[in-house]
Amino acid sequence: MVGKASRIACIGAGYVGLATSLCLAGAGFDVTCADRDAAKVASLSAGRCTLGEAGMAGMLRDALDAGRLRFTVSNAEAIAGSGMAFICVWTPQGPDGKADLSSLFAVARDIGANMAGRMDVVVKSTVPAGTARKVREAIVRAAPDAVRAYGLEVLSCPEFLRESSAIRDTLHPSRVVIGCDDDGAALRLRETMEAMVAPGTPFVMTGPESAETLKYAANAFLSMKVAFINEVAGYCEAVGADVRDVSRGLGMDDRIGPKFLAAGPGFSGGCFPKDLAALLHEGRSLGVPLMILEATAESNMAQRRRLAGKVATALGDPAAPPGSSLRGRLIAILGLSFKQGTGDMRDSVSLYFARELCARGASLSLFDPEASQKVGEFLGELMPSIKVCPDEYGAAAGADAVVILTDWPRFAAMDLGRLGAVMGRRLIFDYRNVLSGAEAAAEGFEYHGVGV
Ligand SMILES: NC(=O)c1ccc[n+]([C@@H]2O[C@H](COP(=O)([O-])OP(=O)(O)OC[C@H]3O[C@@H](n4cnc5c(N)ncnc54)[C@H](O)[C@@H]3O)[C@@H](O)[C@H]2O)c1
Repeated sequence: MVGKASRIACIGAGYVGLATSLCLAGAGFDVTCADRDAAKVASLSAGRCTLGEAGMAGMLRDALDAGRLRFTVSNAEAIAGSGMAFICVWTPQGPDGKADLSSLFAVARDIGANMAGRMDVVVKSTVPAGTARKVREAIVRAAPDAVRAYGLEVLSCPEFLRESSAIRDTLHPSRVVIGCDDDGAALRLRETMEAMVAPGTPFVMTGPESAETLKYAANAFLSMKVAFINEVAGYCEAVGADVRDVSRGLGMDDRIGPKFLAAGPGFSGGCFPKDLAALLHEGRSLGVPLMILEATAESNMAQRRRLAGKVATALGDPAAPPGSSLRGRLIAILGLSFKQGTGDMRDSVSLYFARELCARGASLSLFDPEASQKVGEFLGELMPSIKVCPDEYGAAAGADAVVILTDWPRFAAMDLGRLGAVMGRRLIFDYRNVLSGAEAAAEGFEYHGVGV
């Protein structure tokens, strides 16, 4: 274990970096968390949590009060004096799907320039196989003398937390994966993680390439499961079956399991699409066939196109010129975040629907309980065809259709009588299957679910 007297640096104060920092500080470590976003650092330093994750605000206050957690905009300050540094920066999708590792390597150079003792560098960001070794090479290039004098190991420890349960998942992970060729460094990280996670948490000790691959394989498998059930949903619609019953029965088979079998608008969000794209890029560059996963990505796009197309067909004027078939139509989109429980709109399927429907001339009224304030950032280019509303009934007012894209529980609990009364036309596309089609029909709605 890195001694509790020795400091730990976390670089990046997003979902992964903040959850890791808070949980390490909660376990008694002395943590310095660095982020280049000065507003984020100022807010966190003042005890104002930047994420709405359950448990975070209380843990932040406790860690600051106990003096075990500091925030800084200076990576140098976090690194100097630390014996272990977790890299938790974003690794977005670059051109051709390739993972853009520029932030990660910028941090590697900062580590080289500022390490002042033996350093274990832990890559938590999701990265292609071979990256931990390249991070080591980058640090050696930046600071060969420091590496020779002090010693350096770079380990892969991929993160599996889910947004909306980031703290619970960090403290109770299904497993901790540590990839490293050096037994001493692997043991130090294992003991550090064991001090943080629930007793009995299983560990997978392996080489760095296996750890890095395991993370991509996990996200790719879950993406494939979602694409699979969505194809089954299309089949259900054609034959009069109900995909919810099919999913329920499928999930009872413990070889299959019940999770990620809800039919819907397809997987989206900050991680699954970019991680699948990065893995596909790796496969193509290495000449390794990843045919199932190529089909998964294409199937997911086809699902979006199919469901957006249903809205356009129901409301559109087929004789109108391209780009204007939905002119004069107002469509309410309920749900902007990629899933319930988070305000994260990165690569959310709602962005696709909003752009598609606007491209056909529609105006949109939008509502999301957590993400509404981010509409300008993600969809600013669609102004003035879109407006943000304070609740679902406001969004539905005068609308020709409601499209539900996020599985927020409040959408399942909507008063359909009240909703229908404010709408221009009683038409619902329930693309998360949160409502009862029979109840919607009883209120006079034309109802379209997915696979039902
Ligand atoms: N969000 C998730 O659910 C999740 C789950 C598992 C793994 N991951 C992976 O973990 C990594 C981080 O994801 P996230 O969601 O926490 O990202 P995030 O965007 O929420 O946070 C990243 C933070 O890093 C900061 N940053 C970027 N470059 C920096 C630099 N050079 N120096 C200092 N700070 C810098 C940014 O300002 C940002 O606050 C990604 O690789 C992601 O794929 C994310």
